[in-house]
Amino acid sequence: EGQWVLMATGRSPTNIAVIKYWGKRDEALILPVNDSISVTLDPDHLSATTTVAVSPSFPSDRMWLNGKEISLSGGRFQSCLREIRKRGCEFEDEKKGIKIKKEDWENLHVHIASYNNFPTAAGLASSAAGFACLVFTLGKLMNVKEDYGELSSIARQGSGSACRSLYGGFVKWCMGKKDDGSDSLAVQLADETHWNDLVIIIAVVSSKQKETSSTSGMRDSVETSPLLRYRAQTVVPSRVLKMEEAIKNRDFDSFAKLTCADSNQFHAVCLDTSPPIFYMNDTSHRMISLVEKWNHSQGTPQVAYTFDAGPNAVLIAPNRKTAALLLQKLLYYFPPQDKDLSRCGRPSCTSRDE
Ligand code: PMV
Repeated sequence: EGQWVLMATGRSPTNIAVIKYWGKRDEALILPVNDSISVTLDPDHLSATTTVAVSPSFPSDRMWLNGKEISLSGGRFQSCLREIRKRGCEFEDEKKGIKIKKEDWENLHVHIASYNNFPTAAGLASSAAGFACLVFTLGKLMNVKEDYGELSSIARQGSGSACRSLYGGFVKWCMGKKDDGSDSLAVQLADETHWNDLVIIIAVVSSKQKETSSTSGMRDSVETSPLLRYRAQTVVPSRVLKMEEAIKNRDFDSFAKLTCADSNQFHAVCLDTSPPIFYMNDTSHRMISLVEKWNHSQGTPQVAYTFDAGPNAVLIAPNRKTAALLLQKLLYYFPPQDKDLSRCGRPSCTSRDE
């Protein structure tokens, strides 16, 4: 028995929801109360790169995130590891003298090293890219034959939004009907070439860690917000259909209106939660006003905005020309405080009166 190490490396970008997921109907399996739709970013920005290794010489499972060891004992990591191990297939490399039988995967330990190409502390969704990448790369390592849809339902058990990062382009997470979660998975609506004029700008408003995690925020909303129930049952189903249509037709007008309305309703649900959750701050609100005024003055949407569980703005422009104009406005009204945003890792904005 020679000592060997088998490795695989993968990369997954994060995704930004334009129809938000907020609320679980099953916390353990991470089953949502509504469908959601997102756009996956280009992997050069905001992505996770993960290397997984397996060797008979590893005595336990271990993981390092950005070079620092973290615990794998949480239920979410354990679910992903268990589900992938169960699906591992036989692997043989005669030259290297490696032969792994299907049942061996259950007993072989893994080492996982993951890096984010953006500051993890910047409050930007990192779990979506991280869990998508972990599941995908472990699947490669263990010779798993399942398709992306099935892998997405495993990534979902790491972090709900992670299921949408298995695909590029526009992706829908179908909430599913079954209690076991097997039909709660992601499908690709259109690939990354379909609407590649769109430009996404992320304005980092604050690099502070969010105060309310999405897990506890969702739990509180599900338990206390009457608006959440109305949103999930009445608003989102028709909004999802309209959004699919807008994406199919590259209809920016409709896309932008739906995106802004859905972000605002998600934050309204947060306010409707007891105790209320404030994810956006003053600067976020001022950014919304800036875009709303601009859109209103032109009679049609120029730019869309959307905010997740934090104050940072995600702004979507229909093309590079509008994106350049948007950047000009942002830099004028919200001049960055730090000279080099990418190096300091703690960018923050001030604001100027309009
Ligand atoms: O997957 P989580 O638990 O990080 O939740 C993500 C929730 C939002 O980002 C606010 C919305 C979404 O659909 O991504």
